[in-house]
Amino acid sequence: MPTRPLKTTFLGAGTMGEALLNGSLTGGVDPDTVTVTSRHRERADQLASTYGVHGTTDTAAAVAEAQLVIVALPPDRVPDTLRSLGDTLRPHTVVVSLADGVTLSDLAEILPDGVGVVRAMPSLTARVGQGLTLLTAHPCSETQLDDVTSFFSRSGEVLHVEEGQQARLAPLSSGGSAHILYVVDAMVEAAALRGVPRDVARKVMTQTLTGTAALLDSREDLAPSQLREQMCAPGGGGIRRIAALDRRGVRSAFLDALTD
Ligand SMILES: NC(=O)c1ccc[n+]([C@@H]2O[C@H](COP(=O)([O-])OP(=O)(O)OC[C@H]3O[C@@H](n4cnc5c(N)ncnc54)[C@H](OP(=O)(O)O)[C@@H]3O)[C@@H](O)[C@H]2O)c1
Repeated sequence: MPTRPLKTTFLGAGTMGEALLNGSLTGGVDPDTVTVTSRHRERADQLASTYGVHGTTDTAAAVAEAQLVIVALPPDRVPDTLRSLGDTLRPHTVVVSLADGVTLSDLAEILPDGVGVVRAMPSLTARVGQGLTLLTAHPCSETQLDDVTSFFSRSGEVLHVEEGQQARLAPLSSGGSAHILYVVDAMVEAAALRGVPRDVARKVMTQTLTGTAALLDSREDLAPSQLREQMCAPGGGGIRRIAALDRRGVRSAFLDALTD
């Protein structure tokens, strides 16, 4: 998607903000167009020297010059912070909140008319250019939405969804990797119990994940269960291991955990 250079300010660059920053810059965003804020001078300087962006503790000034504001603060800090900065925003600026649980109508009520309002649910895999960002916009111009889509596309895929879908999909997208890593950790430990060095088991698991993702992507005609059957011959070790997981209720534990 063609992009125009946008002056972009990250409000806060903790775990998620920094992952998005790293992925966006690697994906081609010009660091000179990016400003990152922190409450601490040393952190702002560190981000500036690590990424070649502008770092500042002057949030109001950083927001005043931005065309795109990425709000990467803790959710409970978002309403008050935006309320205090609303007047400094330029008309037509787009504000993208990453905050879990802060709704579009909350944001639209706080921000001045004319400012674009978008809710995004990114994932930490944005750090390596393999993110998935769920986007939902409050009515805004096509250009504003294109700008936001282009920005997040620099660090991975973008999916436009209804606002209600964000909460339903987040356990698979932003939270999804945590579940996969939980399984990876268990599998590496199982290999370690059998004497395999953890670094070797981890390397094997990494390629297994990469290959499985590629297979899943290339065989949309087959359900995951059908792909799995191809790896679990009747009477073989694969089917016995899956049966052992079923006996321990692993599948239903996933269903419970992800539908709470
Ligand atoms: N982590 C994820 O996987 C993930 C996924 C999707 C969405 N999100 C959303 O992204 C946002 C940021 O999450 P995060 O995981 O990056 O959190 P985080 O690591 O705690 O980072 C938040 C940053 O906000 C700044 N900040 C400003 N005022 C603060 C205050 N009063 N208390 C604490 N920090 C303050 C801090 O930077 P300074 O100390 O430098 O000022 C801090 O590094 C949240 O709204 C979250 O819902 C996170």
